[in-house]
Amino acid sequence: MTISTSSAPVLLSREGAVALLTLNRPERMNAVDRATLRALRAAVEELWDDAGVRAVILTGAGEKAFCAGADLKERAGMTPGEVRRFLKDIREVTSQLENLPKPVLAAVNGLALGGGTELALSCDIRLAAEGALMGLTETTLAIIPGAGGTQRLPRLVGKGRAKELIFTGRRVDAPEARAIGLVEFVVPAERLLEEARALATRIVENTGPVAITQAKFAINRGLEVDLESGLVLEAKAYEVTIPTWDRQEALRAFGEKRKPQFRGE
Ligand code: COA
Repeated sequence: MTISTSSAPVLLSREGAVALLTLNRPERMNAVDRATLRALRAAVEELWDDAGVRAVILTGAGEKAFCAGADLKERAGMTPGEVRRFLKDIREVTSQLENLPKPVLAAVNGLALGGGTELALSCDIRLAAEGALMGLTETTLAIIPGAGGTQRLPRLVGKGRAKELIFTGRRVDAPEARAIGLVEFVVPAERLLEEARALATRIVENTGPVAITQAKFAINRGLEVDLESGLVLEAKAYEVTIPTWDRQEALRAFGEKRKPQFRGE
């Protein structure tokens, strides 16, 4: 696991099987510049390969922001070609995050605007601090969400609500985010990471790793196809769990009235 220095734009730490990925530019509201994007991609790739990590929490450093989106100061000096390249890279990173074969929780600790909300949208489950504000504000900058926001927001909150939010660039507070399904939990700021860790630990300690990977795959991929095809995907995903040692262990543990000890195989 990478040892991150405190000045790195992305920090990666690990507590047991739960990794904490922190956007670390608090003086810039954790805005994403090219260096941050490179570091985020490297961290996500590392997490992908690390079988010891069973769940990931993505958050922002400091108390004000989760992520204020793309670094607009850097953007101002970019050529159109560089902007296109940046967008390609951030699209790829959000997709990598979305497809990571383990649960990713967003702990939205403050402002999440533009790309910040898009990063949260590519996570599996979102927890927001009570004071968090979220929004796809790109249209107020005469651009559109470019890291999956036009696609992932309507899938989460519905087409009409997504259009209202994207067309106006309005920011929603945490209770509204919860009410419209943009986040799953709202918790006091001082308990945000604790609650995220508790949820991650609950997943890690009670479930089979192969099952979680396959459930995530079936849900993510299945929602993009018709029901019949989705059910075929589910059957295929189930099939992967059948020959596993963990499945046999669960049945043994049930018979022996003890907690199963899963190996991820
Ligand atoms: N890119 C680069 N720097 C940013 C940034 C961004 N997206 N968002 C905030 N910052 C910087 C500010 O420029 C400021 O640094 P400075 O004092 O050196 O200029 C620092 O972070 C603190 O921000 P500040 O604006 O002073 O704090 P605030 O609480 O008054 O407002 C925001 C915070 C996030 C509401 C405001 O900075 C903002 O609207 N940022 C742009 C967000 C955005 O539109 N993101 C979508 C991008 S697609």
